[in-house]
This record gives sequence, structure tokens and C-alpha cells, in this order.
Amino acid sequence: MGFLNTKFFRWICCFGVFATFFLLGFIIGWFTRPTDTNLGETPPSKLRAFLDEMQARNIREHLRKFTRLPHLAGTQQNLHLAQQIRDEWLQFGLDSVELVPYDVLLSYPNKTSPSYISIIDQAGNEIVNTSLSEPVPEGYEDISDIVPPYNAFSAEGQPEGDLVYVNYGRTEDFFMLEREMGINCSGKILIARYGKIFRGNKVKNAILAGAKGIILFSDPADYCATGVKVYPDGWNLPGGGAQRGNVLNLNGAGDPLTPGYPAKDYTYRYSIQEGTGLPKIPVHPIGYHDAVSLLRNMGGQIPPNNWKGALNVTYKTGPGFTPEFNKHKVRMNIHINHQVTRIYNVIGKIRGAVEPDRYVIMGGHRDSWVFGGIDPTSGAAVVHENVRSAGKLMAHGWRPRRTIIFASWDAEEFGLLGSTEWAEENSRTLQERGVAYINADSAIEGMYTLRVDCTPSLHTLVYDVTKKIASPDEEGVSLYDSWHKKDNWTDDRDAPRISKLGSGSDFEAYFIRLGIASGRARYTKDGKTEKYSNYPVYHSVYETFELVDHFYDPSFRKLLAVARVRGALVFQLAESLLLPLDCNEYAKALDKYARSIFQLAQKHQESLDQYGVFFDALFSAVVDFTAAAKAFHQRLKHIDMTNSMEVRMANDQLMYLERAFVDPLGLPGRPFYRHIIFAPSSHNKYAGESFPGIYDAMFDIQNAQDPAKAWEEVRRQISIAAFTVYAAAATLSPAA
Ligand SMILES: *[C@@H]1O[C@H](CO)[C@@H](O)[C@H](O)[C@H]1NC(C)=O
Ligand SMILES: *[C@@H]1O[C@H](CO)[C@@H](O)[C@H](O)[C@H]1NC(C)=O
Ligand SMILES: *[C@@H]1O[C@H](CO)[C@@H](O)[C@H](O)[C@H]1NC(C)=O
Ligand SMILES: *[C@@H]1O[C@H](CO)[C@@H](O)[C@H](O)[C@H]1NC(C)=O
Ligand SMILES: *[C@@H]1O[C@H](CO)[C@@H](O)[C@H](O)[C@H]1NC(C)=O
Ligand SMILES: [Zn+2]
Repeated sequence: MGFLNTKFFRWICCFGVFATFFLLGFIIGWFTRPTDTNLGETPPSKLRAFLDEMQARNIREHLRKFTRLPHLAGTQQNLHLAQQIRDEWLQFGLDSVELVPYDVLLSYPNKTSPSYISIIDQAGNEIVNTSLSEPVPEGYEDISDIVPPYNAFSAEGQPEGDLVYVNYGRTEDFFMLEREMGINCSGKILIARYGKIFRGNKVKNAILAGAKGIILFSDPADYCATGVKVYPDGWNLPGGGAQRGNVLNLNGAGDPLTPGYPAKDYTYRYSIQEGTGLPKIPVHPIGYHDAVSLLRNMGGQIPPNNWKGALNVTYKTGPGFTPEFNKHKVRMNIHINHQVTRIYNVIGKIRGAVEPDRYVIMGGHRDSWVFGGIDPTSGAAVVHENVRSAGKLMAHGWRPRRTIIFASWDAEEFGLLGSTEWAEENSRTLQERGVAYINADSAIEGMYTLRVDCTPSLHTLVYDVTKKIASPDEEGVSLYDSWHKKDNWTDDRDAPRISKLGSGSDFEAYFIRLGIASGRARYTKDGKTEKYSNYPVYHSVYETFELVDHFYDPSFRKLLAVARVRGALVFQLAESLLLPLDCNEYAKALDKYARSIFQLAQKHQESLDQYGVFFDALFSAVVDFTAAAKAFHQRLKHIDMTNSMEVRMANDQLMYLERAFVDPLGLPGRPFYRHIIFAPSSHNKYAGESFPGIYDAMFDIQNAQDPAKAWEEVRRQISIAAFTVYAAAATLSPAA
């Protein structure tokens, strides 16, 4: 027994030692194995673990939890949500999380004097009144603090007058009205349908036309999809629903009383009369049931067919009602209070292990008009799951190379206020250290496929990460492939479509003012067949948890896919040794934009000749930039990846490329829009315009009062654009 035992014991020992060495060798080999030779790639296992940790059922739970109550900016309930998010982010394992307050101008309806619109007879009696609130959906009857539909920052007042129907209230609609139909809007009350453009641009156009007030209504042509029932039986807007929303024209200023500076206690505040972007006329939103009673008896001309919506009325322009009712007028009763109110951003951080002074930001807003089922909470739930997953990795010893900042912004609905104030307060560090900003507003607006808007240098990374994420719609297919099939960007390349960034969400200050590479991603509708605006119940009381759970994404797989896209972008930007930004893509985009603005100019070939307007400098600059970008990426292939100084120098060039497009003087009349390549369109804040300075200088130039002066400005803008592209190219050249 003894002998046997000893032999057996020795054998066990030998085996044990051997096994230990084998295991040790394997472990050492594993951790020291040559990492992916692909430049800028992180070990795929970590990204995979980060993405796999995110779960659809968690996103569902976050969404349910965050949408039980309204979270209007400036209310106790939104502060409580901020505290809850702070506490949970800390539990998830972020290094630090804090509430960052600002005191900004907000705008609420007067609680004792509701706003509504009336038709008045010749004796001044209000014979028709629009509704004071939306019918509350089942299950929410006990909620007391649902703000009634209103347009934040509308002026107060009770203007009376004849109604004029202005279609969508776009610049081209006013041109048609004033120039083709000969209708003068001065002193009139306008009625415009929502859709196509940002509502603030409609209001601006109404003011320019001399209107006394403007009513905004949701037409079923724009807010009902065909074959879909109204909420709660489907996802269409019910007739009693209305779209809330601010009507500011801030042009990137943030808090109207402290443009350019953070709204702290010591900050100088302008008076409300001097505030930036505040309309001087009353504005009020109504649903389509109420719209029928205003539009029904309108007189005047029959407008073009594309001005006709889907209501059972004869659409007419006015001014005023048919002769039968010509003594009737419209009165707006608008009672709104503007007040400086405290708001809170939640800022959570993971300190970078190697480059803590380089920031990658994931930011989205928390405040909502009512329950915020889609806007913003489908996005906030996605951020929450990203934070949870990052925390889980950290618990296993992971720490990103660069610092990651998670932001839950407040008061986005009141003009991107929380995100802009934080950008202002931290502008100096952000312009030195900001690598990228990934926006996280609504994660879904349709059920068809992915939609991405981003700066050109992020194109390649977006394609790369979507190839690593599963499609929520088809088993065994990548998100990239299903997206490619559904939205093929054929005019440019054989790849899924990526669009320019416009505005209307919190990336604005980061991208357009500070010049930080930015992007956004969400699930969207089929633009080719679904012609309604936005999603039908946008900014109404019907944006509930059930809207998403029953209709938009019952499996929560679409939200999961969006969570992974946003998360993977942030992860790769924070982790890659070389920043995954592609200057060649910027070169391609610049070339395309230069050609397209030149094409626009060529419609005025005679004037170009007459006033000596040439685009040669811009095209030369683009050629220069293209060569510089190509050479830069060639050099990147040969840099010594073990030389941290060399890597950091290259990364700085990549990071600062976006900054190089910022002109500190800003665009004409829009000092906070400083990006020379991209700006929100002057006619629609939601849309992006490329070479906006040149575009705006040429807009409607055939009607310029002084054509010589107008073309002079075009020449000036071309030279600014050319200089900016040359300057950006120079930043990609070898340092010495
Ligand atoms: C709200 O309306 C009431 C009644 O019309 C008025 O007395 C009050 O001053 C208004 N509140 C504010 C804050 O303006
Ligand atoms: C409209 O509201 C006003 C003010 O409350 C009221 O005097 C008027 O009778 C109402 N008109 C109708 C038709 O309900
Ligand atoms: C429109 O009407 C206003 C006020 O009646 C007048 O001052 C203005 O000149 C008119 N505009 C045009 C283009 O006729
Ligand atoms: C449209 O309105 C007219 C007049 O108010 C009414 O007679 C007709 O039944 C309505 N049609 C539909 C489809 O509702
Ligand atoms: C995209 O369009 C191109 C050009 O028409 C075509 O060759 C390609 O097959 C299309 N790709 C997909 C995935 O549909
Ligand atoms: Zn939003």
C-alpha cells in the first residue's frame, strides 16, 4: 500500500507541476499574444464582452422605470430622476457621478389661466374654443402634473385677426404665398401644419412676414400612417393629441439669458426682453380635431395641391373666413410664464487608464414633455444599459485607455440648454481634450432599419462596428447587412446610407460650436414609403412605455441594437490605440460638398461671370486636403505602435482635425455656429447644410436688392471656406 501510495503521490505531483506550468504558459501566452495587427483595433474580446453584457430585458426595465411619471425640466420629479440615475451609475461602478446645476430660462403655461384659441363672433363672444388638454391615456388618469400642450417660450398675449393658412410655414411656402398668391400676412394670425422643418423656423418665418400670432396643428397627412390605428390601438396620433415643443431661434446660444457663458450664480443675465431667440408673438399647438373647427370655414384662394392635408375640409389660404362668416375672427389666448429655473445634468466618469486627459462623451437628455416613452427615455434607457455594462467590465478589472464621460442632460426640450451650458462651462478643456461625442436621444423613431448621422471621419468606424452587431430583424445577419439592404447609399458608394448631422439634439454645441467629432444613431422608418413626419405621437401625452412595448419594439431587440451601436462607437473611440477616425472619408465628403455647392452656383452662371465669382480656390483646397489625408493615413501604417509619443502625436492630429474646421468668428449672424463645413440649415434647424456660409450667401440671390453686393458676399464666403479647408489640410501634414 505504502509503495503504491508513494508512487501514486509522485505521479500526481509530476502531473500537477506539469499541468501548472502548462496552464501558466497558456495564460502568459494568451496575455502576451500579438494583438490584432489591424491599426486602431482593440482586442475584439473586450468589445464583444461589452456588447454581449447588454440585454434587451434590462433596457425594457430601465424604460419602464423611467417613464412612470412625467419628467419636465425644472420640476422636482426630474430632479428626483437625476438623483436616482446618479445613485445607480455609482452602483454600476463609475468612478464618479455628480449633479451639475445651472439656472436657465424655462417657460411654462400659467396654471390658473389656460391657453386656448377661439373663434369670436362680431359681438366678441368666443363661439368656438380649442381644447385645454389631451385626453389622458388609460392607466395614467391619476397623474396630476401633465403639462397641457403649449409652445415653450411663446410670447403672452391675446391677438385677434383673420386667419391665413401657410402650409408648413417653410421659407418656400411664404415665397409662394407672398410672391405667387399675393397674400400679405402682416397683422394676420397664421395657421401652419407641423412637419418638414423645425417649428422654431416656422415661427421665425411668421414673424418676418409680420404675423400677430401663429397656430401650429398636426395634420393627419403628416401625423397618421396609413393602415395604422390611433393610440392606444395603434401608434398614430389621436385627434385630441397635440405636439408640444419650444419655438426658440437660439442658433446654438443655449440659455437665452446667458449666451456664450454658463448659467451660474455669478453670471450676468440679460433681461427677458433682450433674451436670445425668444419669439415676440404668441404661438400655440393644437390637434387635428381642433384644427378642423378653425380650417373648416376658411375663405380665400384654393392653394396648390401639395398644400392640402388629410382633413375633411377644403383647404383655403384665407385671409379670414368665407363671406358667410366674414365677421368672425380668431383670437389666441396665450398665458405663458418665463422663469429662471434650476436644472441638473448628471455627469458620470470612468477615468482613462493611459490617457485620462482624452474624453469620449456619450450624452443624451433626461427631461421629457410628459412621459417621454420615446423622446428621450428610449435613449436614456440605452445609456443606462451602456453604463451598467461598462461597470460590469470594470468589476472584472477593465479600464478604458481614455476617459469616458456619460451625461444625462436636462432641459434639452427647452433649447438644448443643459448640454450647451455644460459645453460652455467646460469649453476650454473640451476643446483641448474632446475626442468624440456620441449623442443618445430617442433610440427609435420607426421600425425599419438603422439611421446614422455623423461627421465624415466616423463613417468607417460606424461601418466597422455595425458589422459586429446582430440585426434585430433577421437571425444570423449583421446589422450592417440588413441596414445595407434596406438603405443602400447608391449615389455615393455600395454601403448603407449615412447622413450629415443637422441639429435639434444635444450634440449641437459639441459638434458645431466646439468642433468635436460627433455622431448619432437610432432605428428609423422607411423613408421611401413612410411619408409621415417624425413619429406620429411625438411630444404628445401618448409617448408612453406601452407605445414602445406594444408597437415600436416589443422584443426590445431594436433598442438593444441601437444601444450596441452607440456603445461600440464610444468603446472603440475610448479603447483603440490609434483613434478610429478616417480623414480620407472627410476628404471624400468635402469633395462631394464642394461639387454640390458649385452646381448650385452654376444655376447663376451669368452672374458668376459678371461678378467674377470663382470656386477654384475651394476646389484646390479640397485637392490639397485629399492629398494630405491620403499621405497622413499612409504614414500611420508605418508608425511605431510601441512608441507612445509617436502614437499620441498621430492621435492628436486625428482628434484636432474636426477642430480645424471651426472658425472662431462663426457664421454670419450666427456666432455660435462656428463649423465652416456643417451647420443647421437657416431654414430648418433639423437639417444639416454643408458649406453653410456659401449656401446662405447664395440663397434667393436672384431676388437680391443689390446683386453686386450679394455676390461680393458669396466671394467672401468661398474664400473663408477655401482657407478653412487649406488650414485643416495643414494640420494633417508632418509636424516638421
Ligand atoms: C396667471 O394668470 C392669473 C390669472 O389670469 C394672473 O393673475 C397671474 O398673474 C398669472 N401668473 C403669472 C405668474 O403671470
Ligand atoms: C370659451 O371659453 C370662454 C372662457 O372660458 C367662455 O366664456 C366661452 O363661453 C367658451 N365658449 C364655448 C363655445 O365654450
Ligand atoms: C403688407 O401690409 C402691411 C400693413 O398693412 C404694409 O405695411 C406692407 O407694405 C404690406 N406688404 C406688401 C408686400 O404689400
Ligand atoms: C366631410 O364633411 C362633410 C361636411 O361637414 C360631411 O357631410 C361628410 O360626411 C364628411 N366626410 C367624411 C368622410 O367624414
Ligand atoms: C447597392 O447598390 C449597388 C449599386 O446599385 C448594387 O451593386 C449593390 O448590390 C446594392 N447592395 C445591396 C446590399 O443591396
Ligand atoms: Zn429628445
